[in-house]
Amino acid sequence: MDLYEYQARDLFEQYGVPVLAGIVADTPEEVRAAAERIGGVVVVKAQVKVGGRGKAGGVKVAKTPDEAYEAAKAILGLDIKGHVVKRVMVAAGARIAREFYFSVLLDRANRSYLSLSSVEGGMEIEQLAVEKPEALARVEVDPLEGITPAKALEIAKAANFEPGLAEKVADVFVTLYDVYKGEDATLVEVNPLVETEDGDIIALDGKVSLDDNAEFRHPGHALLEDKAAADPLEAKAKENDLNYVKLDGQVGIIGNGAGLVMSTLDVVAYAGEKHGGVKPANFLDIGGGASAEVMAAGLDVILGDPQVKSVFVNVFGGITACDAVARGIVGALAELGATASKPLVVRLDGNRVEEGRAILLEAAHPLVTLAATMDEGADKAAELANA
Ligand SMILES: Nc1ncnc2c1ncn2[C@@H]1O[C@H](COP(=O)(O)OP(=O)(O)O)[C@@H](O)[C@H]1O
Ligand SMILES: [Mg+2]
Repeated sequence: MDLYEYQARDLFEQYGVPVLAGIVADTPEEVRAAAERIGGVVVVKAQVKVGGRGKAGGVKVAKTPDEAYEAAKAILGLDIKGHVVKRVMVAAGARIAREFYFSVLLDRANRSYLSLSSVEGGMEIEQLAVEKPEALARVEVDPLEGITPAKALEIAKAANFEPGLAEKVADVFVTLYDVYKGEDATLVEVNPLVETEDGDIIALDGKVSLDDNAEFRHPGHALLEDKAAADPLEAKAKENDLNYVKLDGQVGIIGNGAGLVMSTLDVVAYAGEKHGGVKPANFLDIGGGASAEVMAAGLDVILGDPQVKSVFVNVFGGITACDAVARGIVGALAELGATASKPLVVRLDGNRVEEGRAILLEAAHPLVTLAATMDEGADKAAELANA
């Protein structure tokens, strides 16, 4: 889960990373009030989960509360790379002398952590990496040791921070690592980290990505989730621990095992070309134990998608045998009753396939069609979606 800048700012503050005052606001009136409370020069900043807000007109300096009000009018509702601004943060204005870059992230390829830093900030990191790779220091961070004061100094020196300044930024690197470790983040990025005209080091813009797999260790993280912005079907799937991704097509897909589901998407997309260009409506992996409850929860999510016209259930029986899956499907349809209103094509294969097919044939549910192969099932489901 990626956090908004204001959420990152709040976390930074909790851990003692130097930040400036910031107040979120949803209307120009609230922005004016926030600017009055903060006092002096403020910066009104669009809160969207995408970088480059400054260049897109989403960050504006305001010298008075009235100017802040006008800035908010310009920023709220602005479309920044497909993200419409619904909320801004009013931040105290910094008197910036220099801008730097720092991040620490999970380096999956090397099974390690990596810190990136540069004394030359104020540029998008992707651009810096391409145009001035020598100015970007990449220092591996041992996950068992983390960023100790000595490591932080090593990073600062590698990034060419001069003596004196290096010690100051190193202190902040250590605290930013505390955030990374303490919150189970996969990324903590500060761009820009600034030195003010008074010589203070401040994190002016923060980006934090949290590791969803560590959610159980952080009950508080659920509060950071932006329920309004999340897709309602994806939210429902998440409540049921289903691995679901909404796509833009008409054929609902349920399968077991990520690999099988991925190839099912391909086969359905291919079959759809012959049937009016219908496409897969989602990715849904119900995993190994395809019980009736899991099947019902999966079907319920998929049938809740108004775009779905048919559903293709493609299951390979392994540890959970096909007869258990078939009973799951029959049970799910009974449980859903009238909610299950769209045709279902079922292809079973693998462990106890004959028993599974027999159960479905005997149930003879009017909406269920059996397919012998994956290609046949995909073709039938695409045809039904186009009917
Ligand atoms: N509180 C602030 N005070 C002064 N200048 C700021 C402040 N916040 C941002 N800026 C300036 O605006 C630029 C862009 O803001 P930033 O928060 O980094 O957004 P983004 O990275 O999305 O463009 C920064 O590089 C900095 O120069
Ligand atoms: Mg930035």
